[in-house]
Amino acid sequence: HPADIPVICIDGPSASGKGTLAARVAERLGFATLDSGALYRIAGWAAQHHGLDISTANATALAQLARTLPVAFVQDRVFYDGEDITLAIRSSEGSRNASLISAIGPVREALLSFQRDSARLPGLVADGRDMGTVVFPQAVLKVFLTASAEKRAERRYKQLISQGLAANITTLREELETRDARDASRSVAPLRPADDALMLDNSDMDIDTATLQVLSWWAQKHPGF
Ligand code: DC
Repeated sequence: HPADIPVICIDGPSASGKGTLAARVAERLGFATLDSGALYRIAGWAAQHHGLDISTANATALAQLARTLPVAFVQDRVFYDGEDITLAIRSSEGSRNASLISAIGPVREALLSFQRDSARLPGLVADGRDMGTVVFPQAVLKVFLTASAEKRAERRYKQLISQGLAANITTLREELETRDARDASRSVAPLRPADDALMLDNSDMDIDTATLQVLSWWAQKHPGF
């Protein structure tokens, strides 16, 4: 991405609160946001929709699909070829498919330019797993957000219930841990903090405190912004 466009990366494991934090920080700075996980969720959904097995044997077809997703973002909703898939991509199955398809190198490659092109002035807050390591290595500020598995499962549980979806906290925690282990052990762009990332554990921190911490790091990195 062009060096004169400021980017803030927020990477971390599942349900660590990246999306909420990214949205808060972006709102305060007037920046755009990139929810990179949504792209993998949509690609995973599309694969299933087209009856394509999510395996490396189908890497070429899956990458082709990921390059040409007929997707539209309308306010907070996601449409695929006119079908509202907002809730479907957030289900347990949607999360699992996203994690599986995200381990396929050519799919990651196919989604790269869309992610980089989303950087625009006055700035971007991007959240995911490899924002700081692969997609925006030149970013001014990289945050690696963590929280205990217990807290993360609890948050995801509340989120699902508030959307009217069924959830079981023990199952959720197991799913999170399986997904994180897969995301961290894959050979392409594994989940890990960039060497220059600042670590933020928000297990016992509310969203306002976490937001202020990131804004204060931003002010230090970018005086006079
Ligand atoms: O952030 P999320 O939970 O919506 O992401 C869903 C899956 O997508 C996650 O299990 C791993 C994958 N992902 C990725 O590989 N790289 C990203 N930058 C973002 C998400």
